[in-house]
Amino acid sequence: MSDVSVPLENALRDAQRIAVMTGAGISAESGVPTFRGEGGLWKGHRPEELATPEAFARDPEQVWEFYDWRRTLIAECSPNAGHEALARLERRTEDFLLITQNVDGLHQLAGSERMVELHGNLWRIRPLGSRPAEGRIDRRAPLPRPLPLRGDDGTLLRPDVVWFGEMLPERALLAAGEAARSAEIFLVIGTSGIVEPAASLARVAAQAGARVVEINPEPTPLSSVAHDVFRESAAAVLPRLVPPDSTKES
Ligand code: OAD
Repeated sequence: MSDVSVPLENALRDAQRIAVMTGAGISAESGVPTFRGEGGLWKGHRPEELATPEAFARDPEQVWEFYDWRRTLIAECSPNAGHEALARLERRTEDFLLITQNVDGLHQLAGSERMVELHGNLWRIRPLGSRPAEGRIDRRAPLPRPLPLRGDDGTLLRPDVVWFGEMLPERALLAAGEAARSAEIFLVIGTSGIVEPAASLARVAAQAGARVVEINPEPTPLSSVAHDVFRESAAAVLPRLVPPDSTKES
C-alpha cells in the first residue's frame, strides 16, 4: 500500500496511478441538488420512483418531465473549484481515471477527459430499446415539446441514463474496476456510497492496496475503508490537495 504517513498532497503529486470516484456531492456547490439531500425530490417523488423502466412504461410523459426539470436546472450550472481541481489532477497524472456516477456533464465542462460515466449522461437521448450510446452529448438545454419525445418514425425516445434495475454500461464498468484494482490512491468524493455496484469500487481499491481518501461532509458506509477522511465540501478540499500552481502540471 502507498505510505499513508506521507502528506496526502505530496502523495497525490507523486503517485502514477490515481482513480477518483465522484457522486452528486461534487456538483452540490454548482447548484445541482443531490439525490438524497434537500431538493432531491421532484413533485414529492423520489428518484427511485421515476428513474425506472417501469415508471417509463407506465407514464413516459411524467418521466420525461422529471428529466426536463433536471435539465432546466442543470443547464444553468457551471463547474466548481472541485471539478476544476480534478481536471488538474488528471493533467499531471500519468495513469488516471475519473469514475463518475453523475449525469450532469460538469466534469467534462471543467476539462476532464479520461473518465467514465457509470450512470450515463443527462444530455444524451436514445431510442427506447437501443444500447447506451456513450460519446456525443446533445445540447445542454431544456427539452423541446411535446413530451414524451419521439423519433421521426414515432418511436419513443428515452434519456441515455441508467435507470434503477438496469445494467451499467459494460465498458465503463470494466474500466472502473480495473482502475480501482490498480490505483495507488483512490479518491471517493461526494457520494452516499449506497448505490451498487459503484459503491463497492472503493472497497475493491482498498482491498487491492490503494490509499483510499473520502471527501464528504457526512459519514458514509465507505468511511470505514478510508485512510484519509475530509469532512468538508469537495470545492473547499480539492483545491487545497491539488493547488492551481502545482509544479508537475507543465
Ligand atoms: P447522493 O445524493 O446519494 O449523495 C450525495 C453525497 O454527497 C452525500 O453523501 C452528501 O453528504 C455528499 N455531499 C453533499 N454536499 C457535498 C459537498 N459540497 N462536497 C462533498 N460531498 C457532498 O448521491 P450519489 O451518491 O451520487 O443513480 O447517488 C448515487 C446514485 O443514486 C446516483 O448516481 C443516482 C442516484 O439515485 C442513478 O440515477 C442510477
